[in-house]
Amino acid sequence: MAPDQQHDPGSVQALILVGGKGTRLRPLTLSAPKPMLPTAGVPFLTHLISRIREAGITDIVLGTSYRAEVFAEYYGDGADLGVNLTYVTEEEALGTGGGIRNVYDALTADTVLVFNGDVLGGTDIREVLDTHRTSGAEVTLHLVRVGDPRAFGCVPTDADGRVSAFLEKTQDPPTNQINAGTYVFNRDVIGEIPAGRPVSVEREVFPKLLAEGRHIQGHVDAAYWRDMGTPEDFVRGSADLVRGIAPSPSLNGTCGESLVKAGAHVASDAVLVGGTVVGSEAQIGPRARLDGAVIFDGAIIEAGAVVERSIVGFGARVGRGALIRDTVIGDQAHIGARCELLRGARVWPGVQIPENGIRFSTDV
Ligand code: GDD
Ligand code: MG
Repeated sequence: MAPDQQHDPGSVQALILVGGKGTRLRPLTLSAPKPMLPTAGVPFLTHLISRIREAGITDIVLGTSYRAEVFAEYYGDGADLGVNLTYVTEEEALGTGGGIRNVYDALTADTVLVFNGDVLGGTDIREVLDTHRTSGAEVTLHLVRVGDPRAFGCVPTDADGRVSAFLEKTQDPPTNQINAGTYVFNRDVIGEIPAGRPVSVEREVFPKLLAEGRHIQGHVDAAYWRDMGTPEDFVRGSADLVRGIAPSPSLNGTCGESLVKAGAHVASDAVLVGGTVVGSEAQIGPRARLDGAVIFDGAIIEAGAVVERSIVGFGARVGRGALIRDTVIGDQAHIGARCELLRGARVWPGVQIPENGIRFSTDV
């Protein structure tokens, strides 16, 4: 394609939806909104913003609601990331469609890229914009194929790639092609979304546009893609970033088996593998073994403890010889020596479990 035919990213604005409560990641999201949870050393949202910036789009609106103040306190006007960030806050959460409608007055560009704020991806954003332009659609949806579509928006397309239906979280999906959570909207279509009440873009806006015969195009690709909304996916996505399996411009190509942030202390005989991240001021004791672990700032893992595919919150402590697997430990919680927590256990912030206080098996 000739350069003058390509989309000018300068005429495109981005909106990132970050107003959800992140309930599936509780208790970590009781204090921090999901997009601000540390992921490979920085808030998750930093990876997404830097990808948008890399595509040449610098005008970015954050659609906030839950814990709105945390975003502005951390990012300010976005200058540190080379972007111009503005904030539009819903006093009462308006849902995904309501959140898009709520920023309408802040939009100046004719083309608006909308992102779910919890998707880790490697898609070429400019290609999605090109599909939008060449197809002449009013809305374009980025689509990916997954093993089990039931937790997502199922989106069948016809032979021309045009969207034929939008079925949010159906138990009986007709295809494994799903909504990847990135949309291109012609600005006028956003103005048609009902204002001042909660609206789901997935359950209301897209089905209504399709019922009216409007043109929604699909852009399918096979780039890296992961919704970070559950502990399993959060841990996997973080490890994939550390190991370079998931791309992020903010990691500058540094990748390996583990990432240890400045100010952390790791004993020389501790083992850190599987994309483990150790936050600043965290301490990892002798003979501890961390495999795919996400250790937030200031957490302490004592001697001989094993932490696998788990998240250990800010300032939490895991005692000597404890075994933590597929578990979320809330901020400042203390897990006593030789406890065992497995298979989806969640410990609430500040909870103290005494030495030997919980076992999931009796064979050790
Ligand atoms: N501003 C605002 N207001 N943002 C919201 C609100 C709201 O009321 N509710 C949710 N969001 C934001 C969340 O913060 C998140 O970034 C995004 O909208 C999507 O919400 P999730 O709660 O993560 O939705 P999901 O993962 O169950 O499903 C969505 O994403 C899937 C792909 O990851 C849907 O769009 C599915 O169709 C899609 O397949
Ligand atoms: Mg999600």
